[in-house]
Amino acid sequence: IPRFAQFKLVLLGESAVGKSSIVHRFVKDSFDDLRESTIGAAFLTQTIKLANDTTVKFEIWDTAGQERYKSLAPMYYRNANCAVVVYDITQLASLERAKNWIKELQRQANADITIALTGNKLDLEAEREVSTGEAQQYAIDNGLLFCEVSAKTGDGIRDVFYRIAEQLPVE
Ligand code: GTP
Ligand code: MG
Repeated sequence: IPRFAQFKLVLLGESAVGKSSIVHRFVKDSFDDLRESTIGAAFLTQTIKLANDTTVKFEIWDTAGQERYKSLAPMYYRNANCAVVVYDITQLASLERAKNWIKELQRQANADITIALTGNKLDLEAEREVSTGEAQQYAIDNGLLFCEVSAKTGDGIRDVFYRIAEQLPVE
């Protein structure tokens, strides 16, 4: 029997970690080296098909990471079914910021929210500051999905969304 489900997804993380670039790679399969910082938030949708004849539509809120927009975030994660919390593997401080978003989600978002901790800019391996093992252990300890991706090359991007979709409840 074909089934259909619709989920609200929010992206959170420090400015310039590549949230918008991840969404654009997923929705439009494109990348821009000079992407402009998001103002407020952006809304996009994408529909995917799972192997079991289930169609999943994501309603995606791509939030702005700049500090001055921080107070808007609860509006976007409040009813979210899932969250992609992004850090940049070349910026250790961005992982600390991601951990703070995860704590906030665990306190204030839906109790059953699915969270994917996502390390972006995997193409910049030579500049890596966050080890895979460290971030993965944090994800395991906190019950999160974990992925490393590159919005630039597209590496791992589809996996993030398919793995989330497979965890979400479909009637
Ligand atoms: P805010 O909207 O300010 O919160 O930032 P953001 O998290 O949406 O970051 P954005 O997608 O705008 O990307 C910031 C910069 O990083 C841009 O110059 C992108 O081209 C670059 N970038 C994003 N993803 C990657 C990646 O996977 N690899 C490399 N090398 N650069 C990337
Ligand atoms: Mg952005």
